[in-house]
Amino acid sequence: MLGKFVKKTIAIIFGTRPEAIKLAPVVLALKKDKRFRCRVCVTAQHRHMLDQVLDIFGIVPDVDLNLMKKNQTLAGFTARAITAVDGYLADEKPDLVMVQGDTTTVFAASLAAFYHHIPVAHVEAGLRTGNLQSPWPEELNRVLTTRMAALHFAPTASNRKNLIKEDIPSKNIVVTGNTVIDALFLALAKVSKNPPHIPGLPQALQPTAHASRFTSHSSRLTPPTPLVLITGHRRENFGGGFENICRAIALLARQFPKTHFVYPVHLNPRVREPVMRILSPGAPGAMLPNVHLIEPLDYLSFVALMNRATLILTDSGGVQEEAPSLGKPVIVMRDTTERPEAVKAGTVKVVGADTRNIVRAAAALLTRPALYKKMSTAYNPYGDGHATERIVSACRAFLTPL
Ligand code: UD1
Ligand code: UDP
Repeated sequence: MLGKFVKKTIAIIFGTRPEAIKLAPVVLALKKDKRFRCRVCVTAQHRHMLDQVLDIFGIVPDVDLNLMKKNQTLAGFTARAITAVDGYLADEKPDLVMVQGDTTTVFAASLAAFYHHIPVAHVEAGLRTGNLQSPWPEELNRVLTTRMAALHFAPTASNRKNLIKEDIPSKNIVVTGNTVIDALFLALAKVSKNPPHIPGLPQALQPTAHASRFTSHSSRLTPPTPLVLITGHRRENFGGGFENICRAIALLARQFPKTHFVYPVHLNPRVREPVMRILSPGAPGAMLPNVHLIEPLDYLSFVALMNRATLILTDSGGVQEEAPSLGKPVIVMRDTTERPEAVKAGTVKVVGADTRNIVRAAAALLTRPALYKKMSTAYNPYGDGHATERIVSACRAFLTPL
């Protein structure tokens, strides 16, 4: 007699803004697929910035561990997350745990799953700088998660090579592209028809309906007001690095008074303190009418603003992946990158958190149209928008007994 078909349970566990953005397309696909029982558990390592993403994609977590504390420490959050995910897994007993990226949530959830003998599928596997201090602590989180995972979803062929070098069997690696491109395409489809209005920005800086995915503003007959979009949050930039970044923005704002600098400031207090101290209108000597410090944007608004931007200054991982698809030059305010594909293609330039280098690189792009044109060629090294399908079919193969 044939046995009853039993759905396999996949528990997708995440906690921060970028994990939510990159897993949203996978959650939506697995929830629709009748062959799986997909459960979403959030640690809420980020509270507000996570909820912004959940709202945009209409995802309601099955379990919300609600763990964020203001000014949480790495050890404190790790301990709380391992304990809470351990309890969740003891109740849920999933067949597979899925995590994404390199945050504390990823490491803690993978370790808790390992202790329960539950296989882990790691989305965005194999990114490496080779330097455990940068990004810190993410490089260690990635290396340790690789050791614990059973299935590795590598965005690119070079990520796959990194895993092979670490003796991961090639049968356990699938090159999928990065799911951030799937999320980006979902967002672009919404915002290109119906551009959101961004509170706190003048009309001249608002996203417009006709800014298409691969249209560079430089190619238009009447160029819009130049807009430099900024984000930053890396721990290795805390202190002096952030002060350098803020000084660079102030110098650029004075040198280019007709260019506007829009900075949605990350909610980490260690980021907000130097930004407000150096750049807010009340800061001594600041009064920069063309610098706009705003709250973190929901994903649709941020994608629309990236598409509206002339260039982007960032230390973010996700933004380095999205911007080349939009044809936006990126200046990376870090010393290392685990995303060499766009650097090789020439759309991303790594300059460190160094005031002079940031000013020099941004000024060159704002004043040299030929350089700008070269760096703003749309290029898609991180995927074709179909990473989710490859991940779902690999999970199906993994969970289906021969
Ligand atoms: C975390 C990840 C980092 C990821 C980044 C994405 C780790 C060690 N760091 O860094 O890899 O690139 O998220 O943004 O996993 N806060 C709020 N509300 C929020 C979010 C954060 O108030 O919605 C504040 C809290 O005071 C919190 C602090 O920011 O304690 C730091 O958050 P945390 O997740 O620990 O570190 P991030 O720097 O955000
Ligand atoms: N992002 C957003 N709103 C913002 C800034 C960024 O939605 O105000 C998105 C961005 O498009 C990217 C992701 O957040 O997909 C990157 O998150 P973050 O820089 O916090 O983390 P990282 O990618 O560096 O881990």
